Amino acid sequence: MHARAAAATTTALLGAAVVLPAPLAHAAVSTDQPLVIAHRGASAQAPENTLAAIDRAARLGFTWVENDVQRTKDGKLVVIHDDSLARTTDVEQVFPKRAPWKVKDFTAAEIARLDAGSWFSARYKGARVPTLKQYMNRVSRNHQKLVLEIKNPQLYPGIERETLKTLSNEGWLGPASVRRKLVIQSFSADSVRKVHSLRPDVKTGFLGTPSVAELPAYARFADQINSSHTTISRGYVAAIHAFEGPHGKPLEIFTWTVDTAADTRRVAGLGVNGVITNKPDVVRKALRES
Ligand code: G3P
Ligand code: CA
Repeated sequence: MHARAAAATTTALLGAAVVLPAPLAHAAVSTDQPLVIAHRGASAQAPENTLAAIDRAARLGFTWVENDVQRTKDGKLVVIHDDSLARTTDVEQVFPKRAPWKVKDFTAAEIARLDAGSWFSARYKGARVPTLKQYMNRVSRNHQKLVLEIKNPQLYPGIERETLKTLSNEGWLGPASVRRKLVIQSFSADSVRKVHSLRPDVKTGFLGTPSVAELPAYARFADQINSSHTTISRGYVAAIHAFEGPHGKPLEIFTWTVDTAADTRRVAGLGVNGVITNKPDVVRKALRES
């Protein structure tokens, strides 16, 4: 049985009368340091979701990076956070009559013309919105590992299958990769469930903070519950760890977006498995000093 635990008990940690399965023996707060995941790359130091941002993370010594995948008008997968190109590119200058400049309304060739670096700093002028293929090539070259977010999947029917296809083409769905260096996550439970049904071997994460009572349902298709750091408590993290995910291991939690030493110390103390951060150097320093 997924999400199983031995016997029902009430946990005082939750501060509410929630009946929970007894924690698994291995679900105690971990003494291991959490993984540090560079959010959109090292996005405090380089333009988010660009090759420069993951290169920057690599140079700082960070293996894990996070990104966001969406789809162009002509069906190409690209790495960008917003559903509009306006904030992180010069699209308003290049295509002034194309408001509201949605990713889904531009071809890959049009997007390839855009400058995705100058908004951040003149130093990054000429950085591009990478295709997922380009991005995976670079992550591979850097020997990095990836938390890939399917962003706004409701806008892109079929994006789960297409994403998996690209990952497969780029050599990211072999047994070793699936086991060690890939998580696919989304705020959409339907999207995460779809990924799990298409490739049950791939590790998945649900972005959000479902109630404890809902966790068993999520544990059928998600290995991780990845919550905002502002929404979690020690009791919630313990509750997550008390359930088994679809691969028979305790559910994990990668929390986001943690950019200060104080917040790092707090979430590390809660026992989270990963810290997703725009400032991986700040988080690493705080963890080393704690
Ligand atoms: O990985 C967690 C985080 O990326 C979710 O929020 O909006 O930055 O994609 P967002
Ligand atoms: Ca994201």
